[in-house]
Amino acid sequence: MENKKFYVTTPIYYPSANFHIGHCYTTIIADAIARYKKQNGYDTFFITGSDEHGLKIEKKAKEAGVTPKEYVDRIIENAKDLWKSLGIEYDKFIRTTDEEHVATVQKIFKKLYDQGDIYKGEYSGLYCTPCESFWTESQLVDGKCPDCGRDVEEAHEEAYFFKLSNYADRLVEHIESHPEFIQPTSRKNEMINNFIKPGLEDLCVSRTSFKWGVPVDFDSNHVVYVWVDALSNYISALGYLSDNDELFKKFWPADLHIVGKEIVRFHTIIWPIMLMALDLPLPKQVFGHGWLVIDGGKISKSSGNYKDPREYIEAYGKDAVRYFALREVPFGNDGNFSEIALINRTNADLANVLGNLVNRTIAMNKKYFNNVVVKSDKSTEFDEELISETLKTKEIVDKYMDELKVPEAIDAIMEIFRRCNKYIDETTPWLLAKDESRHDELKTVIYNLLESIRIGAILLRPFLPDTSEEIFRQLNTQKTSLESVKEFGGLSLGTVLNDPEPIFKRIENKEE
Ligand code: MSP
Repeated sequence: MENKKFYVTTPIYYPSANFHIGHCYTTIIADAIARYKKQNGYDTFFITGSDEHGLKIEKKAKEAGVTPKEYVDRIIENAKDLWKSLGIEYDKFIRTTDEEHVATVQKIFKKLYDQGDIYKGEYSGLYCTPCESFWTESQLVDGKCPDCGRDVEEAHEEAYFFKLSNYADRLVEHIESHPEFIQPTSRKNEMINNFIKPGLEDLCVSRTSFKWGVPVDFDSNHVVYVWVDALSNYISALGYLSDNDELFKKFWPADLHIVGKEIVRFHTIIWPIMLMALDLPLPKQVFGHGWLVIDGGKISKSSGNYKDPREYIEAYGKDAVRYFALREVPFGNDGNFSEIALINRTNADLANVLGNLVNRTIAMNKKYFNNVVVKSDKSTEFDEELISETLKTKEIVDKYMDELKVPEAIDAIMEIFRRCNKYIDETTPWLLAKDESRHDELKTVIYNLLESIRIGAILLRPFLPDTSEEIFRQLNTQKTSLESVKEFGGLSLGTVLNDPEPIFKRIENKEE
């Protein structure tokens, strides 16, 4: 039998007191995918965390007059608090300052050194301090850092190097023979043509010019330099090379690393090469998503377009923010974020379609049947289509989620609710109610609506968990297993619904 396990990761974030909506994007999507897999019966492990070493943190801590560890300890809660406010349910939050992580990185470094993949040399290059990246002349854009556009400076130091080129052929072979490894496909071509084919340079993997990093235990002047430390989190989090590697045995290789497009390079070149050198299997997929941008540009505090995501959550609700991140942008592309777009999306789908449907259906059931779930044998000519569309949705969602077409999967679920609204227009329950001889049809119509809402809410749960729970509360049902969406009729007769309460109110759009 196939081992139904699923290990999904986000990048580990640089600790910051200023996370923006773009940072939430990766994490919301990873959370929804993890919840979806869990609901589909997979033994799921989902990690996120923080990437806490490096010169930048060392400098900031100095400015603040505290040690780097004190500095990161202070701001780390910001990330945890933000993830909580978005309903992110990770299984582990890994910090690169965790003792277990540090020990694993030291062992990895030593092993690679002992077997000759890492050697000692001297680095001279062009260094961008904010990005902690060395660049070659040809990689600069107008003489500046190609990532952030800032000045770079000449730097020399004794350093250890990782001979990536030893593994280049094997890597290309792997990428070519596993088309699912780098997604979307456009990013695969970019990696091969722009980075691997021109020749992989040896990677600088230690520094002596700052101290805030994992010490190289056999050469005390050096700390492990950023990517070897950061990427190792995906296996140190599972206990690789520790006394307890149960999770590692169970969950490695990762099924999915979700990363922003600018770090695909590190995840599809350095990371698989590290794993090959460690003789470990490679992750099944690295998905490079696009950025949320504002007015076409990156979101940042300095550009003045920054707002704490918690302000949106407070104003419009956690699920409205989740819905926007999951639904608005084709997964893989860049997409524009604005408060107006968030409001419009919430109004159009969550208030007008879903909220309105749930509210008026439960209100009708209260008005006509005193909140009690009833049913009759009398059908209407519109039932069959509604029922068959509702029942086939799970399969459509599964197909889209297999391809990580998250917005399409959500839209397929919304289609149930749109179909229900159409069914209300077709069957006109308020007219049926006026005609005593048609009350049996009215019972059927309201039941079909309530049951379609129940099924839709189960499918929606990984994406908008709170909304689904609220729908189940109003429906007063415990029939919420995924198994129960396969057959129409799970909502038990005689159930007494709770009084209707609006789940999404229309937000006033001041610009309208
Ligand atoms: N620490 C590294 C990752 C190491 S993984 C072994 C890092 N951290 S980060 O904090 O800069 O970025 C974390 C993630 O947030 C990245 O995937 C990045 O693409 C994502 N985003 C940052 N700004 C973003 C947007 N505006 N939109 C979407 N995602 C964005 O990189």
